[in-house]
Amino acid sequence: MLRIGVLASGRGSNLLALLRRQVAGALGGEVVLVASNRPCAGALSIAREHGIETCVSSDAYGRSRADAQVELSELLRSRDVELVVLAGYDRILTGSFVRCWPGRIINVHPSLLPAFGGGLHAQRDALEYGAKVTGCTVHFVTEELDSGPIVSQAAVPVLESDDERSLSERILREEHQLLPAAVCAFAEGRLEVRGRTVYRKGD
Ligand code: GRF
Repeated sequence: MLRIGVLASGRGSNLLALLRRQVAGALGGEVVLVASNRPCAGALSIAREHGIETCVSSDAYGRSRADAQVELSELLRSRDVELVVLAGYDRILTGSFVRCWPGRIINVHPSLLPAFGGGLHAQRDALEYGAKVTGCTVHFVTEELDSGPIVSQAAVPVLESDDERSLSERILREEHQLLPAAVCAFAEGRLEVRGRTVYRKGD
């Protein structure tokens, strides 16, 4: 069973989607640690309800992001984590954190990358741009923000009646399918990265 560490800053619906698949015995791995930079994150409560170890890794109150992430990386290592999943994590990982986990960090982003990358409100950006289609992307994390090899994407139409909330909700429903499926493919050794391209076997 792949040992998974999840980093999440918000309500944690993507974490919950992972845990539901785990409980159904279809994740191919086990979430062993959930860390957040926000002590009040819903994701931490969800983890506790599932009996999963949690940790607050904050770089507030004068602590540097680099120091906080060195500690976080060491904690993940000490729990024998093999895959780090960013499930709504709003801190940018330092180069040194990313280099400690080569090919072992994946992120879910609420747009079809490379469109609307690099920010924290990709859904609003898509609406303001007048895009007709957006969606979500699961990708490997590299030192360049939102630019790593793409594992999977799902397209979501932008409706004329959409506001940020309705569009985000429809994208989120796709994220809840895409992220667990990508984690499962990783756990089963079905992802092979060659250059920028991820080859995926047996879907
Ligand atoms: C998701 O839309 C994710 O793509 C983005 O932040 C949101 C997190 O939602 N990075 P949740 O906390 O998993 O509910």
